[in-house]
Amino acid sequence: MFTKNILFSILLMGLSNAAVTPGRTAVAKLQGEVSGIVGFSEIIDTDGEPAFFVGVDLSRPNENRTPLFVTVDLKGLAPDTEYAYSINTGTVSGDNCSNTGQVFDPLQRVTDIKTYNCDKFHVFETCALGDLSLINRQATGGGNLGTFSDTFVVNYLSFDAPGGRNIIGRNIAIAFSNGTIVSCGNIALSQQENTPK
Ligand SMILES: *[C@@H]1O[C@H](CO)[C@@H](O)[C@H](O)[C@H]1NC(C)=O
Ligand SMILES: *[C@@H]1O[C@H](CO)[C@@H](O)[C@H](O)[C@H]1NC(C)=O
Repeated sequence: MFTKNILFSILLMGLSNAAVTPGRTAVAKLQGEVSGIVGFSEIIDTDGEPAFFVGVDLSRPNENRTPLFVTVDLKGLAPDTEYAYSINTGTVSGDNCSNTGQVFDPLQRVTDIKTYNCDKFHVFETCALGDLSLINRQATGGGNLGTFSDTFVVNYLSFDAPGGRNIIGRNIAIAFSNGTIVSCGNIALSQQENTPK
């Protein structure tokens, strides 16, 4: 499990020079064959300038949204197997992943799944915004530990978005590349930790 302080330390390592503070955090705790968490942490930029992040669609500098630092921490992955992780629109119950719903696609980029081709360098034009593993990279259990950890930043999702970009109450699903879902969990805001740094 991560704490906000650990998350913030990792966050600072990924920054160029902007002054930032950690904001609210939301987490999906995954249940199923694969366990772990997908966490989201708001990046509050105290100097009022958009911070520079590798992997962010810079063609749309943060659009007045607070960037989110995303942490993916999975265990129980099968060796040499690729997994997708995505934000989906349904609400799941425990490890019953039958109601994950559709991939979160507020810009309606998946009009035809046969021609859908998410290009991570043109996220806005081509991707369902919830398609996190296409926007970042697939999770693999290549190591013999069966674990996968990664961090990245997105600048177009929100905890209380204008324009339907709100991810709270949606779910994270982990799936084999053939689409079979193995684990899921709802995204919920974390309790605020009032421990001053
Ligand atoms: C999973 O949930 C669905 C409805 O969301 C329900 O129909 C189904 O019976 C549940 N499966 C199990 C194993 O509980
Ligand atoms: C999907 O892929 C997994 C892992 O390779 C496999 O175990 C499963 O049987 C596949 N499911 C279908 C419906 O093909």
